[in-house]
Amino acid sequence: MSNVHLINHPLVQHKLTLMRRKDASTNTFRRLLNELSSLMAYEVTRDMAMQDVEIETPLETMTAKVIDGKKLVFVSILRAGNGILEGMLSVVPGARVGHVGLYRDPKTLTAVEYYFKMPKDMEERDVVIVDPMLATGNSAIAAVERLKELNPKSIKFVCLLTCPEGVAALQAAHPDVAIYTAAIDRQLNSHGYIVPGLGDAGDRIFGTQ
Ligand code: URA
Repeated sequence: MSNVHLINHPLVQHKLTLMRRKDASTNTFRRLLNELSSLMAYEVTRDMAMQDVEIETPLETMTAKVIDGKKLVFVSILRAGNGILEGMLSVVPGARVGHVGLYRDPKTLTAVEYYFKMPKDMEERDVVIVDPMLATGNSAIAAVERLKELNPKSIKFVCLLTCPEGVAALQAAHPDVAIYTAAIDRQLNSHGYIVPGLGDAGDRIFGTQ
C-alpha cells in the first residue's frame, strides 16, 4: 500500500459516516459528497506546482505564489464520478474537466468504454481521475490505460471508498498512480460491491434506486 493516501481528517471521516447511513436522502448524500470532495481536493493538490508572480499589495510590490489551475484536469468516470466534480472545482475553479464513460458488464464485471472526451494538450497536464468507489478496479485500470495513451505529466486517482481488492488491482496494473481515499473497507462481495460500503454510489447521487 505504498502509494495509497488514506485521508483520515475528522471532517472527512464524519461526513463519510453520514453518507454511509442507508437512511441518508439523495439530497443529503449529494451535499455531503460535495463537501467531502472539496476536502479531498486539498489533499490531492498538496504537491501541485506553483509559480511566482509579482503583485502589488496596498503597501508594496511583492513576489507571491500562484498555482496554474488550468494545467490540472479532473477526469470523471461516468456517471458516479460527476458527483465529485463540483466539490473539486469549487477548490480549483480553473481546472479542466474530462469524461470517461465506462460501464461494468454485469456478468464479467469488466469495464466497457462508451465515451472518452479530454481537453487538448494532455501531455502538459496533471490528471486527477475521480470515481467515488474503487471496487474491482476494472474501471479505474481501464481509465488509466486510456489516459496514459495521451501521455499526461502525472495521474492520480481519487475515490471515497475502496477495499483491499480494488487497491491491489489498481496498484498491480499501475503502481505509479497514487490512490487517495477516505476509507479502505473490509472486502468486495460476490456482486462486486464494497462492504460495508455505502451501496451504489451512482444511484445514491442521482436518486435512481
Ligand atoms: N460501485 C458502487 O457504486 N458501489 C460499490 O460498492 C461498488 C461499486
